[in-house]
Amino acid sequence: MNQRPLETTATGPAFVPGPVLLLGAPGVGKGKQAQILMAQFGIPQISTGDLLRSNIAKGTELGMQAKSTMEQGKLVSDELVNQMVAERLKQPDAVRGYILDGFPRTMPQAVWLDSHLGTKALPVVAVSMTVDYDQLLQRITGRRTCTVCKHIYNVFSNPPKVAGVCDFDCAPLEQRADDIETVFAERMKTFAAQTAPVIEHYRVLGRFEEVDGQRPVAEVTSAIEAALRRLRGARA
Ligand code: AP5
Ligand code: MG
Repeated sequence: MNQRPLETTATGPAFVPGPVLLLGAPGVGKGKQAQILMAQFGIPQISTGDLLRSNIAKGTELGMQAKSTMEQGKLVSDELVNQMVAERLKQPDAVRGYILDGFPRTMPQAVWLDSHLGTKALPVVAVSMTVDYDQLLQRITGRRTCTVCKHIYNVFSNPPKVAGVCDFDCAPLEQRADDIETVFAERMKTFAAQTAPVIEHYRVLGRFEEVDGQRPVAEVTSAIEAALRRLRGARA
């Protein structure tokens, strides 16, 4: 991917933020920023949306259970998603930290995560991004994703060099089934009812910062990195 090189020292990446939650509405930039931060810090992006879509593509039982719920802009059950996250967190690449993208997004998921991680692991830090409704709608309807490397484009703000084709591996780009205006409206209602309280939960806990996601991608990345350093008490 076309990203900045890893910030390294002789012993490895200079700063690793540990477990991070990226929070925000549909289209706010969670996936785009998580891909950049993953390359920057050498820790995995764990996107529950991507994991569910991968299950749908493979035709698994979980994918079959999730498909119509996702296409309606509603949330998959907490039980299924928590179990999927529990399995993913056991993978060895998650030991030094991870970027959770799109999870938790209900209060039961947040309560489950807080107790699942307990006090043994470094506590999570949360960064919430904000973008206004009209900009979100444009981002959602303009989004295209590489079918192979999953790089995220936007036909309005960040188009590929050749329309419909990934710059990095020449694979075709696809539009998500839930990226249409009517489903977006439903996803926003779901976000307001079920995920906004999760953001307030982490705001009250205190290991939390809010970032203006309306700015260009690189500026948002810098703001998130600065927030993570402050939240972890690291030098700038
Ligand atoms: P999920 O895949 O998580 O979708 P979402 O939360 O609706 O978020 P998006 O992926 O749409 O947006 P994003 O913030 O990642 O934006 P992106 O970076 O791509 O979930 C999908 C569904 O799965 C849910 O509806 C639910 O059914 C189910 N699900 C998932 N997790 C679940 C859970 N925990 N519990 C229950 N169900 C769950 O950017 C969007 C576009 O904007 C791109 O084109 C990008 O290029 C562009 N862009 C990004 N940043 C900028 C910028 N700064 N300036 C200009 N353009 C930008
Ligand atoms: Mg996403």
